Amino acid sequence: MAKLSNANRVKIQEQKPDLRIVKDKKTKPYSDIDLNNWKEYSHIKTDTWWEFASRDNSHGHSNEYHGNYIPQIAQQLYERFTKKGDIVLDLFLGSGTSAIEALNMGRRCIGVELKPEQVDIVKNKFSSKELVTDVNLICCDSASIDVKDKIQARLDVMREEKAQFLMLHPPYDDIIKFSDRKEDLSNCSSTQEFYELFKQVAQNGYDMLEEGRFAALIIGDKYANGEIVPLGADCAAKMREIGFKMKAVIVKNMEGNERAKGKTANLWRYRALNGGFYIFKHEYIYIFQKS
Ligand SMILES: C[S@@+](CC[C@H](N)C(=O)[O-])C[C@H]1O[C@@H](n2cnc3c(N)ncnc32)[C@H](O)[C@@H]1O
Repeated sequence: MAKLSNANRVKIQEQKPDLRIVKDKKTKPYSDIDLNNWKEYSHIKTDTWWEFASRDNSHGHSNEYHGNYIPQIAQQLYERFTKKGDIVLDLFLGSGTSAIEALNMGRRCIGVELKPEQVDIVKNKFSSKELVTDVNLICCDSASIDVKDKIQARLDVMREEKAQFLMLHPPYDDIIKFSDRKEDLSNCSSTQEFYELFKQVAQNGYDMLEEGRFAALIIGDKYANGEIVPLGADCAAKMREIGFKMKAVIVKNMEGNERAKGKTANLWRYRALNGGFYIFKHEYIYIFQKS
């Protein structure tokens, strides 16, 4: 019989009529993936190029919010970096992709979003019971100091000290303007201000995350004044300044979440040839660990 003393081994006992089978499961503290059966997880991506033909619009998801991420990203990250029952903290909740997928996968979610009307829309996607036990929505500025007390109060209700995964999908500076509010990261007076506010949000996320757990930053770059502005690399640098360890830089194709580019593709091609630049076909998913 295999040894059961290793802390990373969980003993699972299956009761059968006259038979008790003891199975060994080898897992990391942050995941339910059974490393003893690692060949069964061929759907889990382990390389740095992620290509999705189209958005998954099933199981509560839709493409109604301009700027939402595709649910397959959450599916990959939750299975790899969370366990059933864990709490995902999303500090830019938007249309609630992180929360919907958390419930679909037996996880829980605390989501913070600046726009009250957007929080109301997301609330309607869940039952009143789910809004108590599994999903907690907070309307607040994620860069503020107050947000941490509000998150802590929800964690207390959910009987957790900290969140177990941090999802950050900020506005890509001013590429899509989400509101006119001065706290809105898409409404900053300069890219420098955007970086400063982003760092405050990331610091709040770091403080509310459990030691040893993971964070994802989904972001793309932009062009301004004839040059590229590397929002991804610059925001990732802020995460490292805070103390996150950078684990991966994933490049993801953007076709799946783009709307309407098809009609203007030729125009963009002309502009690229004329301006000496290349049309973005990708965005990034940076993975970090708090350690
Ligand atoms: C790129 S979207 C996130 C979309 C989301 N991941 C989804 O799938 O629907 C960024 C969101 O951040 C929100 N936001 C901007 N500044 C914020 C702030 N200071 N605090 C909280 N939310 C903010 C915007 O209103 C917007 O909904």
